[in-house]
Amino acid sequence: MSSSSIAPTAVAPRAPDGLWFGKDLSTPEPIPEEAIERALALMRSGRLHRYGEQGTGYPEPSLLELEYAAYVGSKYCVAVSSCGVAMFIALKALGVKPGDKVLTSTFTLSPVPGAIAHAGADAILVETNADYVTDLADLERKAATSGAKVLLLSHMRGHIADLAKVMAICGKHGIAVVEDCAHTMGAKWDGKFTGTWGQVGCYSAQTYKHINSGEGGLLVTDDDDVAAQAILMSGCYMMYDQHILKPAAEVFDRWKYVTPNFSMRMSNLAASLLRPQIGQLADRAQRWNRVYATLERELKKAAHVSIPGRDAREEYVASSIQFSLNLKPHQIERFLQECSLRGLYIKWFGTPAPVAFTSNYEHWHYLASKPDIPRSKAVLDQLLDLRTPISLTDEDCVLIGKIVSVASDLAGAIA
Ligand SMILES: Cc1ncc(COP(=O)(O)O)c(C=O)c1O
Repeated sequence: MSSSSIAPTAVAPRAPDGLWFGKDLSTPEPIPEEAIERALALMRSGRLHRYGEQGTGYPEPSLLELEYAAYVGSKYCVAVSSCGVAMFIALKALGVKPGDKVLTSTFTLSPVPGAIAHAGADAILVETNADYVTDLADLERKAATSGAKVLLLSHMRGHIADLAKVMAICGKHGIAVVEDCAHTMGAKWDGKFTGTWGQVGCYSAQTYKHINSGEGGLLVTDDDDVAAQAILMSGCYMMYDQHILKPAAEVFDRWKYVTPNFSMRMSNLAASLLRPQIGQLADRAQRWNRVYATLERELKKAAHVSIPGRDAREEYVASSIQFSLNLKPHQIERFLQECSLRGLYIKWFGTPAPVAFTSNYEHWHYLASKPDIPRSKAVLDQLLDLRTPISLTDEDCVLIGKIVSVASDLAGAIA
């Protein structure tokens, strides 16, 4: 299978030691030729909207839903326009009302508290621990005391908490679980796909994820009522018969007059790009994890760097790597400058101001209540993040390791 070569960035080497990486870590994989052909045929037909009043056959998103549900082993899948809206729809379908409390992970990205705010609810942040996953003791405490009826659990950057324990804690307190699998498509906990442990799983098909249609989201569930509401909310204009995977007519009868259309559908074009990529997930995972293992080995050679071990039950698909840099904030700023001087773009979850995709709970001023997370700050303040395109070579990983090593030595030496 072909890989894109990583685009070099424009700037010339500037560091006195001559170390220079200079490649764009956000270089995606090319869209498979089969998908391009399918998309071209669709464009020639002009039929880009998934529903048609007199259409024959099933549209591309219905086929994608069928194929993705078969892949993860869920009863239903609903294709929508992003993972952010999949999470919003999941919360609404589980009955979250304005003013309700929703538990969620502290270590996550802004679309997660954004989905909760979209539903008018109040995000209650649960601590993230030194393994970069949701802290189960804090979850237990907040499950018992917050009054929340839903947990929106983010498997942020592919790090998966013990899902059997999460489900046991939430089950005990009558809390439904929505999994944010934006970074875990194809990943499993203890042999079972993420997204199929909770009542609802949400996935992203945005360009920097495991499959790419620019924008796109998938929602999976085994629950008839959630599935019917998700189809109606996503905007089927009552043409739910054009879904292959759908609950019985009487389930729609329960919901069709009381469920708003939020117009959050997936287009035929996006689905046509995604369908051939589902079959590539296993191969992509293998190649991504090889890059991860090589980079992990190289990064661990640097002073001040630590990377937590991963649980044997976690079958991750690493499209990025995180490490802790055990230095003070001003030293980390220097580390980032030294990396940047050598053409290596690293992100920092302790960033004082939000930068590009990276932000943290201190930047989400719309949170309705003050977060009670004394321990997560220490983790995020030292947490660094690198995208790992599949096409990174072993030589690239060695060079990245060298730059991180030099930069952490220089940063660690300043007072
Ligand atoms: C952790 C996490 N969850 C959810 C999302 C939302 O995905 P989308 O961009 O498809 O809405 C993202 C997007 O980057 C993300 O990083």
